[in-house]
Amino acid sequence: MEPPKRILSLPVSLSSLVLLLSAAAPLAAAEPTLTDDSQCGCYINNDNSSTYFTDHRFFDFRSLSQYAGVPAVIQDLQASPGAAPTSDYFTGTEWTSFWMLGSWNNSNGARSDATVTMANSPNNIYIEANTEANPSSQTYLTLRTQRLNDFQTAAEIESASTSFKYLSLRMRARTVGAAGAITAMFTYRGADALANIQEADLEIRTADPRNLLHYTNQPAYTDGGDVVPEATHNTTMPGGLDWTAWATHRMDWTPGLTTWWVDDEMVAQIAFQAPRDESNIILNAWSDGGKWTGNMTKFDAAYLQVQWLEVVYNSTEAAAASSRKMVRRDGAGGCVAACSVDQTPQLGKPVMLWNNGAAAGMRVNAGGRLVAWVPMGMVLATVLLSTGLLV
Ligand SMILES: *[C@@H]1O[C@H](CO)[C@@H](O)[C@H](O)[C@H]1NC(C)=O
Ligand SMILES: *[C@@H]1O[C@H](CO)[C@@H](O)[C@H](O)[C@H]1NC(C)=O
Ligand SMILES: *[C@@H]1O[C@H](CO)[C@@H](O)[C@H](O)[C@H]1NC(C)=O
Ligand SMILES: *[C@@H]1O[C@H](CO)[C@@H](O)[C@H](O)[C@H]1NC(C)=O
Ligand SMILES: *[C@@H]1O[C@H](CO)[C@@H](O)[C@H](O)[C@H]1NC(C)=O
Repeated sequence: MEPPKRILSLPVSLSSLVLLLSAAAPLAAAEPTLTDDSQCGCYINNDNSSTYFTDHRFFDFRSLSQYAGVPAVIQDLQASPGAAPTSDYFTGTEWTSFWMLGSWNNSNGARSDATVTMANSPNNIYIEANTEANPSSQTYLTLRTQRLNDFQTAAEIESASTSFKYLSLRMRARTVGAAGAITAMFTYRGADALANIQEADLEIRTADPRNLLHYTNQPAYTDGGDVVPEATHNTTMPGGLDWTAWATHRMDWTPGLTTWWVDDEMVAQIAFQAPRDESNIILNAWSDGGKWTGNMTKFDAAYLQVQWLEVVYNSTEAAAASSRKMVRRDGAGGCVAACSVDQTPQLGKPVMLWNNGAAAGMRVNAGGRLVAWVPMGMVLATVLLSTGLLV
């Protein structure tokens, strides 16, 4: 059967066309829609840069009651590194496909001013029930460090991959506990000589005033013990916050620059010594009785607690897979289907900003604001069609 033909039934004046056009415009600039990582060719940050990344992972520790439990501290140095994971969460593929539990110790003397033996133990990494009043999550991930009789027990998680090259790393976290520890989130590329280490970090010293943050492109000191002031930016938490409160800490490592954010506010930027080569991702809580950490009083403890971790990144390991996924296009910013993890209504799940591979085109401007990509001529044609003028 033939569809009924449109009949021009109304005389359409120019002014009503203008009216229709202005009504059509907001439709073209619709909100970005929730999508899935499998649909995303790349991820663009809300930072006014045209930098984009090819991959995305989200680790959510907020609703893991089935794994929650605080393990007793292992008091024995020898038994610490080989301790079993504290729950099945840390043996599941979600975790092991990305993270490793650190078990190294400081017997290598890497920090010459250390006065205490420090040993990392998988036993200090666990899922904990959130018992605060009106909790903002059921559970969170905890990294624990405690001063014991003859050593400091510590916690570190490391990405299994050492091939990250540029990323935007975020965690919703807080640091609580006694003075004398460091909690940190950083990228790391080791080297034989201190001067060749590449590292961009956020560090919190629990001995500091509770609003002070340290941002550094390491090394921040020389073999001779001199401070390299350009490497570090010390700053206070914005909005009157201190680091015992939950906040979203973000670090963007882009070519030649490291940028740090707290709760969507940019708080520091350092170009000096920005990492250049493939690195891994590390979070830790530790102390060695040296000048930087200070001494922790015996049996005191400090904790880095994390509700979720998110990273958008490029990896040289995944480069082949990524270029297949991206499908380059001349002048289109190199990405056909662009997503954002910033503008999403559902944390951890991306939204689609535009998809040049699909019928309806949306483009994003440098500020990450959606703009209509549909050319005005197309809108006009649509309006004419819908009013029957073009039949
Ligand atoms: C991005 O650009 C807008 C408009 O120029 C400006 O208001 C905003 O502060 C910028 N944001 C950043 C993170 O630079
Ligand atoms: C990430 O990788 C893609 C694909 O190789 C590249 O086009 C893009 O510029 C890279 N991003 C950064 C920040 O280097
Ligand atoms: C400390 O690390 C060294 C080097 O990896 C290792 O040989 C030693 O057994 C470790 N000590 C403990 C107590 O785990
Ligand atoms: C940052 O703070 C640390 C420790 O308080 C201090 O040693 C260092 O000199 C400061 N660096 C800068 C650049 O202010
Ligand atoms: C930590 O304590 C040891 C001795 O217990 C001492 O030698 C060292 O100087 C102290 N470190 C700091 C930073 O106070």
